[in-house]
Amino acid sequence: MRDVAAAAASTGSRVLPPNDPRQYDDLVDEWWRPDGAFAMLHWLAEARAALVPPADRPGAVLVDLGCGAGLLAPHLAGKGYRHIGVDLTRSALMQAAEHGVRVVQGDATAVPLPDGCADVVSAGELLEHVPAWRQVVAEACRLLRPGGLLVLDTLNDTALARLVAVRIGERLPTVPRGIHDPLLFVDARELVAECARYGVDLRVQGVRPQVGGLVAWLWRRVRAARTGVAPGGGRAPRIVPTRSTAVLYQGWGVRNG
Ligand SMILES: C[S@@+](CC[C@H](N)C(=O)[O-])C[C@H]1O[C@@H](n2cnc3c(N)ncnc32)[C@H](O)[C@@H]1O
Repeated sequence: MRDVAAAAASTGSRVLPPNDPRQYDDLVDEWWRPDGAFAMLHWLAEARAALVPPADRPGAVLVDLGCGAGLLAPHLAGKGYRHIGVDLTRSALMQAAEHGVRVVQGDATAVPLPDGCADVVSAGELLEHVPAWRQVVAEACRLLRPGGLLVLDTLNDTALARLVAVRIGERLPTVPRGIHDPLLFVDARELVAECARYGVDLRVQGVRPQVGGLVAWLWRRVRAARTGVAPGGGRAPRIVPTRSTAVLYQGWGVRNG
């Protein structure tokens, strides 16, 4: 059975079904708290940005689909892109704009931007939230200029991902409860095949938080909860490659022609 009560627990205010986008409004104050409910999105944004090379021309554009509050922005600084963020959630976009993102409120399945406008398209932690994820892939590839780069990360459609990311992850302070609908997780092989239809040869790589860093971070959080003193300081866990794509994976690929 879907854990609707858990979703309510995560927002502390109203009962919302899993993956309901209104959860992002209820969690609006969490986006930029480094140790808040979206902490792991910060770690993933850093790892995703590492896949993006410096722009190879003046005026290069990076379109960030499902940009949320623009957590990718600080990690793109100095790479030379105009960062355009597209998201459904207005409250998140307002924060993205404060971090230098040019924002567009819209659906990633029907993006109001022209064909071939992007040197890079990013879709971080988005596909597993969109029932029509194939349409997001189609849009991402439509936006990419020939030779442009697609970068993304998402959760795989496996029992292990459901266990780790939902049953365990949503009980830890790393992931808000009820934010995922595990039925929407994206099979890595299907994603690779879908990208190939649009001329993007997607390579995938499993990733996970570095264990020592994660344990230290969780410990700081537990200690803070016990003492009432903010966790403060300490390095955020790094996202590192792992052999298996069974839970969380990154993908990147260039659009040919
Ligand atoms: C898990 S958050 C990831 C945010 C951001 N990419 C990051 O990594 O920090 C998912 C985001 O996708 C947005 N979203 C969900 N469905 C969407 C859709 N169909 N079109 C555009 N944005 C969507 C949500 O509003 C939310 O901001």
